[in-house]
Amino acid sequence: MIEQDPVVIEGEDMTLFRLDASIRVEGSASREIADIVEAEWLAVHPGDTVQRRHIGIDVLPSEAWPRAVSAAWVPDTDRTPGQKSAVALATALVDELLAADAILLAVPLYNFGVSQHFKTWIDLVVTDPRAAAGGPGLLAGKKVVLCTVRGGAYGTGTPREGWDHSTSYLRRILGDVWCADLTVVEREFTLVGVNPALDAFTDAAASLHQGALASAREAGKALAAA
Ligand SMILES: Cc1cc2nc3c(=O)[nH]c(=O)nc-3n(C[C@H](O)[C@H](O)[C@H](O)COP(=O)(O)O)c2cc1C
Repeated sequence: MIEQDPVVIEGEDMTLFRLDASIRVEGSASREIADIVEAEWLAVHPGDTVQRRHIGIDVLPSEAWPRAVSAAWVPDTDRTPGQKSAVALATALVDELLAADAILLAVPLYNFGVSQHFKTWIDLVVTDPRAAAGGPGLLAGKKVVLCTVRGGAYGTGTPREGWDHSTSYLRRILGDVWCADLTVVEREFTLVGVNPALDAFTDAAASLHQGALASAREAGKALAAA
């Protein structure tokens, strides 16, 4: 394949919002994929802004969600300091999304479910009236790339088929509830080479890895062109 130089779009002052939910930085497979998407975006938008949140490391407070929910039933003036700060946090999270021209999310599978940190982020965002169900869709018309990774494999016919309770939920929220123009880049078997019990899958894992990196490049180019 012939690689072409990206068409550089200048003078528009665009913003990419990037959120990472991995609980680590070094060796993170979701970050590796997201880094490629980000690099493709920056190649087209050099000097533009990447607004970041690493909620797997700088975690959102778990008490913020119930406080933001209960604040909806209380007039502004009667809210507790905790409710006020929870509402302010939810407002900031939604402001970040709305201010972004493109969105990049990197979310691993943990314990067969949605990362608790990412779920807290979703729950907080949903408390904001701008994300209300039945509205036009918080991310309507906005391009979002979700990079999601799993240590094992969950495809059709595998022993753990149906055990990934994260990816379909993330698609539902981002694509169907928030109406984003969603692209999902997935990588499975990231624990091959880490967990000796998976050594038999070394070749398959290498192929899935390369496939995911290629998909990330394509997704990044499409995100940048939007
Ligand atoms: C606490 C914990 C729980 C995990 N649970 C699962 C799981 O249920 N299924 C799975 O396939 N992988 C699981 N993994 C593996 C991660 O999905 C895998 O290591 C992934 O690459 C982590 O993302 P990262 O590389 O971006 O940090 C788990 C990892 C950790 C640390």
